[in-house]
Amino acid sequence: MTGWTADRIPDQRGRVAVVTGANSGLGLVTATELARHGAHVVLAVRNTAAGEEAARRIGGDVEVRELDLASLDSVRAFAAKLAADHPAIDLLVNNAGVVLLGPRRTSTDGFELQLGTNMLGHFALTGLLLGKLAEAREARVISLSSITHKNAHLDFDDLMFERDYRAVPAYGRSKLATTIFGVELDRRLRAAGSPIVSALAHPGLTRTNLTPRAWEHRGRLGQLIARFGLLATQSVEQGALPQLRAATEPGVRGGQFFGPSRLRETWGPVTEARLSREAADPAVGKRLWAAAEELTGINYL
Ligand SMILES: NC(=O)c1ccc[n+]([C@@H]2O[C@H](COP(=O)([O-])OP(=O)(O)OC[C@H]3O[C@@H](n4cnc5c(N)ncnc54)[C@H](OP(=O)(O)O)[C@@H]3O)[C@@H](O)[C@H]2O)c1
Repeated sequence: MTGWTADRIPDQRGRVAVVTGANSGLGLVTATELARHGAHVVLAVRNTAAGEEAARRIGGDVEVRELDLASLDSVRAFAAKLAADHPAIDLLVNNAGVVLLGPRRTSTDGFELQLGTNMLGHFALTGLLLGKLAEAREARVISLSSITHKNAHLDFDDLMFERDYRAVPAYGRSKLATTIFGVELDRRLRAAGSPIVSALAHPGLTRTNLTPRAWEHRGRLGQLIARFGLLATQSVEQGALPQLRAATEPGVRGGQFFGPSRLRETWGPVTEARLSREAADPAVGKRLWAAAEELTGINYL
């Protein structure tokens, strides 16, 4: 397949990159490529044994640190230790995510688990690391969107989906919220005159552990269905290219959004992707930001 490839990543030596969910799937490939090009990569993982195993596979200049995005205490502890050990952070890839099927679940802080992990955890993490990102020369924050954001709608009267919960729309809402966060972060960084760039990426439909894990609760039949679904997806190496491009290509502007180019952005070479109208709406961005500040107790920008 032609187009942008990981071989176009510039020299990353001297840069500190944090990748959440770096032990698996897109995060693992992202961390591997950043390390291969010389970055010091922090593997921010909830399971440190899996993180150590990933570190062995990656080789290079990597360190493993514990981060559970479904717990604000864990996010605070991670950010405090990281900030104490690194004078500046050049790149934050907010990659980790969960898809759930089955009944509604909540995070340690009582948030609907997909919104809590995918968006609110990363909102808090970014705010707590902002000072260290500001210390870097050309820092970037990358938010992981999904094509599911395009058919999702936020319900500000029921952000935690307590009424008529359905798992699939809840995942879509969490990725819409993550997308809105990345776009609103860009607006606020610009308004503050900050050189930090907030860019976005999505991997189309990519073969990772995401969907098989979601089907785990359905046993062997679930695994069969998940495997069948994976036949229609692209490789994880290809799927990671949009986020690697957003993270490393020189000249990426705040708010730029990358994804695959073929078949409604589900696979193929990297191109600029399209935001849904709701994701691009500044009024929605402002409202979600205020809600995230109130829910997490972390205020910034
Ligand atoms: N694959 C796709 O087609 C697709 C499509 C659209 C968007 N995405 C997005 O791509 C990102 C990466 O997903 P993936 O496809 O690479 O799936 P994956 O292989 O399942 O990786 C997800 C990663 O997130 C981590 N994670 C989950 N909950 C966490 C928590 N509470 N704290 C810290 N880390 C946590 C997982 O850790 P454990 O290994 O410990 O569970 C894992 O490392 C996600 O944001 C997802 O929404 C994927």
